[in-house]
Amino acid sequence: MNALKLLYQGKAKSAYLTEDHDLLVLKFRDDTSAFDGEIIEQLSEKGAINNQLNAFIMNKLSENGVPTHYVERLSATDALVKRLDMIPVECVVRNRAAGSIVRRLGIEEGMAFNQPLFELFLKNDTLHDPMVTEHHVEAFGWATHHEMSRMYELTLQTNTILKAIFDQAGLQLVDFKLEFGRFHGEIVLGDEFSPDGCRLWDKVTGESKDKDRFRQNLGGVLEAYREVAGRLGIVLEN
Ligand code: TMP
Repeated sequence: MNALKLLYQGKAKSAYLTEDHDLLVLKFRDDTSAFDGEIIEQLSEKGAINNQLNAFIMNKLSENGVPTHYVERLSATDALVKRLDMIPVECVVRNRAAGSIVRRLGIEEGMAFNQPLFELFLKNDTLHDPMVTEHHVEAFGWATHHEMSRMYELTLQTNTILKAIFDQAGLQLVDFKLEFGRFHGEIVLGDEFSPDGCRLWDKVTGESKDKDRFRQNLGGVLEAYREVAGRLGIVLEN
């Protein structure tokens, strides 16, 4: 399958149309952004590393019953995916407090919640991804009640699956973000899962192994991503 025409350029990935109307080529770029695109830097090889990490996670989710857009990896940086009609909200689950919720609610970083906390954000960089509720989603017509329930269910299912996988790798899944879309009427997981869109803390030291290293200028971003891959048993090609 060939990448024919650029359909959409995001901050870290580009999507290309192919000969098949139902399929897209997703290119993982080295661009690394923080603060809604305010800072963007190239981290050499990040695209290829995330393409491999994402392939591993998407396959695990699929094996465990989560419908995903993922088809296969095409090259170091490219993946073949189903073309979804994307729903413009970001589904976040938090197992522990970190990032925006710490600032928003004045709670201590690392606080464990009694149960996984589900939050929704509108995907809009100009507005800095404002938090919304299920009611906004339905009132604005971004998704139906049934679709919203399915996104909620699949996000929590993903949390259960991935918490266990990362736990075995000595990592705590603190929080993450998912995006969904419609494929022939069915709600399907789209976008990607990589350390760009989740928080992973070493179970013993608490050290961040995700994009917080970039956001907080801690250094060792790619080393951390490579370490996550290694701990998951992924043999990186580069
Ligand atoms: P937050 O603490 O900034 O609200 O983010 C929660 C988690 O979701 C964190 O792992 C980062 C991820 N996330 C993104 O990757 N992109 C986004 O636009 C948002 C709002 C969150």
